[in-house]
Amino acid sequence: MKRAIYPGSFDPITVGHIDILERSLSVFDEITIVVASSSRKTSLLQPDERVELVKDVFKGKRRVKVDRWDGLIMDYARERGSHAVIRGLRAASDFEYEFMMAAMNKRLNPDVETFFMMTGQNYFFISSSMIKELFRYGGDISPYVPPLVWKRLKEKRKAGDL
Ligand code: COA
Repeated sequence: MKRAIYPGSFDPITVGHIDILERSLSVFDEITIVVASSSRKTSLLQPDERVELVKDVFKGKRRVKVDRWDGLIMDYARERGSHAVIRGLRAASDFEYEFMMAAMNKRLNPDVETFFMMTGQNYFFISSSMIKELFRYGGDISPYVPPLVWKRLKEKRKAGDL
């Protein structure tokens, strides 16, 4: 069975992430989405909430698993015996960071290969940071996130949690 992990912050999960995951399922039999932390970013949602939302989005999909990890992704891969990591690439601006991260990850765990998937042409301009910014200023983010994420964010804003 061909297995892969798809790590990211998923803060929040977007339609772009879903597109990458769905297309990757044509190559891999089982994909584990690993909700991890990026020290570069300020978060909108707590890690447990992100995990819960990602689980809800893929509910009923047997080939998609969801996990949370607070350490290095390559340690997760080693612990779970994973040999493939999927990352989405949107634009040339993503390349340098992804290239360096893949190179560092290779040093940390030479048994793992990183597979880059081109983001779908309808999604290349989407980013979680932009969605967070739009949401914080009252913009409509509904085209860019799954309906249950939009619903949860609206509820949290109404309750004064965001
Ligand atoms: N369509 C649209 N947008 C997409 C996309 C797609 N297909 N794929 C990714 N994105 C966006 C995300 O929304 C996100 O936007 P943002 O930068 O504005 O938040 C950005 O692209 C990248 O997000 P994501 O794929 O979720 O990854 P990330 O860069 O937030 O996560 C980790 C990086 C968590 C994988 C990385 O920090 C990590 O591995 N952390 C653990 C520690 C570690 O091992 N570090 C590496 C070794 S030092």
